[in-house]
Amino acid sequence: KKRIGILISGRGSNMVSLIEAARLPDYPVEIACVVSNRPDAAGLDRARAEGIPAIAIDHKLFPSREAFEAELDAALRGAGVELVVCAGFMRKMTAGFVESWRDAMLNIHPSLLPSFKGLDTHARALAAGVKVAGCTVHVVRPELDSGPIVAQAAVPVLDGDTEESLAARVLAAEHRLYPHALKLFASGGAVISGERVEADQGLVNPADPL
Ligand code: GAR
Repeated sequence: KKRIGILISGRGSNMVSLIEAARLPDYPVEIACVVSNRPDAAGLDRARAEGIPAIAIDHKLFPSREAFEAELDAALRGAGVELVVCAGFMRKMTAGFVESWRDAMLNIHPSLLPSFKGLDTHARALAAGVKVAGCTVHVVRPELDSGPIVAQAAVPVLDGDTEESLAARVLAAEHRLYPHALKLFASGGAVISGERVEADQGLVNPADPL
């Protein structure tokens, strides 16, 4: 099994969906640790309650982004992490850190990339009047919210949607998508070719059982 480290900054609901998936007998991933850059992240307590080593590395205590990342990197490598899985990790990373985990770091973003990179994705999707929204799991590259796409899930935008109602619908799709995309990637079923992922199982259908 691939040893993963999950990076969070808050609630950790995507982390929980990965913890639950990792309990399935044939799931190709073992969770080595959870790290939050915010000591008060609710996800840390949840991870500990599930018996997973969880540590806070408070970015505010470091003089620079590089110094914070050096500590983060040491924690991950020390735990034997082979694949870094960002799940609501809200801290920008330097190119050096990202490149040191090249092709070994995934992220989930609450939009259908390359649309709506950055923050406030749902408000901007509503303002743009899109009729389909969704989420993306991608391999992390230094440029913000870019990199080879592993899998996506779409949800409808409904008349009368608010930022909150759309966010909730997308989040439910995230919880189905991430375990599937991680399984595909960790089992070698998603191969990076150029800057695209070729999935040998074709499209990931998040409605399928894991
Ligand atoms: C999720 O919607 C995730 O896609 C988003 O933050 C939320 C975290 O929720 N990530 C980003 O916006 C990354 N830029 P969670 O802590 O409950 O998983």
